[in-house]
Amino acid sequence: MYICLCQAVTDHDIKASVNAGAESLDDVQAILPVALNCGTCRDSAEALINEALQNKAHKLSYAA
Ligand code: FES
Repeated sequence: MYICLCQAVTDHDIKASVNAGAESLDDVQAILPVALNCGTCRDSAEALINEALQNKAHKLSYAA
């Protein structure tokens, strides 16, 4: 699903960025051009990043 229509960034792209080590919107923006144009997607992108971080932490707690 597209999160950022301006730059064609998908939820999969953002989740992959978090799995690669991004921990904030700034980190993701160093990898992807999300929320760098109109900004409409900013809240959705931040919510998705937080969700992906929680999922990542949950998976790591099971792996430990
Ligand atoms: S929809 Fe993401 S910058 Fe416009």
